[in-house]
Amino acid sequence: MAIDLRSDTVTAPSTGMRAAMAGAAVGDDVYGDDPTVNSLEERVAALFGHEAGLFSPTGSLANQLAIRTLVKPGEELLTETSSHIVRAELGAAATFSGITTRTWQSTHGVLRAEDPLAIAHENAGPYLVSTTAIAIENTHNFGGGTIQPIDEIAVLARAARARGIAMHLDGARIWNAHVASGVSLLEYGKHFDTISVCLSKGLGAPIGSLMLSTKARVAEARIWRKRYGAGMRQVGIIAAAGHYALDQNITRLGEDHTKAKKIARAMHALNPSLVHPDNVHTNIVGLDLVGMGMTADELNTRCREAGLWISALGKHYARLVTHMDVSDGQCDEAIAILQRALVAK
Ligand SMILES: Cc1ncc(COP(=O)(O)O)c(C=O)c1O
Repeated sequence: MAIDLRSDTVTAPSTGMRAAMAGAAVGDDVYGDDPTVNSLEERVAALFGHEAGLFSPTGSLANQLAIRTLVKPGEELLTETSSHIVRAELGAAATFSGITTRTWQSTHGVLRAEDPLAIAHENAGPYLVSTTAIAIENTHNFGGGTIQPIDEIAVLARAARARGIAMHLDGARIWNAHVASGVSLLEYGKHFDTISVCLSKGLGAPIGSLMLSTKARVAEARIWRKRYGAGMRQVGIIAAAGHYALDQNITRLGEDHTKAKKIARAMHALNPSLVHPDNVHTNIVGLDLVGMGMTADELNTRCREAGLWISALGKHYARLVTHMDVSDGQCDEAIAILQRALVAK
């Protein structure tokens, strides 16, 4: 059986989660009648101190619903250059919402408030594009699972709001940031006008994300969710997995972080240019293969032959993600496979 470290989305629902799903109370959610969905929306909104929540099949849709409530067609969203919203949502903001994006670049995706503030241009008049929102990703996926410093978030949110610019959080892995940093979900929540969170990444649900905001914005997003064809019926069967994930799987994320650190230390020992353990904040290990003279595809092929699945995300950038379906023993085996694959050149 292969060891799958491509992503934390590859987990299968546990026996307990499946039992919770089988026993879920359900109703037609397009009519607002599904009690399990309703309680999940209320629960997650309350965790972040927001008024309301909207269940969504994917994190991408939750992001897109959120930002379209903040940014009108022809206006601008600022985000980091390797954020999921601009790199991995296939131009959805432009395609569906007429939103234009401009990006700032930061090392490992880690926020410095001054960077977006330097390029923001609110109320830009009739010639230039006006900035109406800034999106932050926490943790930052392509940055290597890095945590955004809460002080920088606070400085940015204060300055942005003073300039009339809204704040969006792509919190697909905010749970990892919360567990690793000790910053509360409420503290994170108060700096943002809209939030997306995923239950289908490290928390182990098969499907499910939420968009959080004010009642008015969530009501608007509910209409757009239906318009996009994502109004769902007896979806409490899925929302039950989300409740189970929140009950059972938040604190255990620390175990994934320990495993990622162990992989990072072993890779650093092999060649310090591969990764620095200090940059591995949570469950993602990004490997820079330039110093090894190897492409990510080459490494991927060698690992696959030995039973380890990883992601080749750039010419010289490979990504490994730890999760609840990889044991300590498999983690050690993955390290051994990587060591052999990297030195075999
Ligand atoms: C940071 C981030 N945001 C959003 C998403 C989108 O989630 P989904 O795959 O459910 O659309 C992902 C997916 O990996 C992600 O890593």
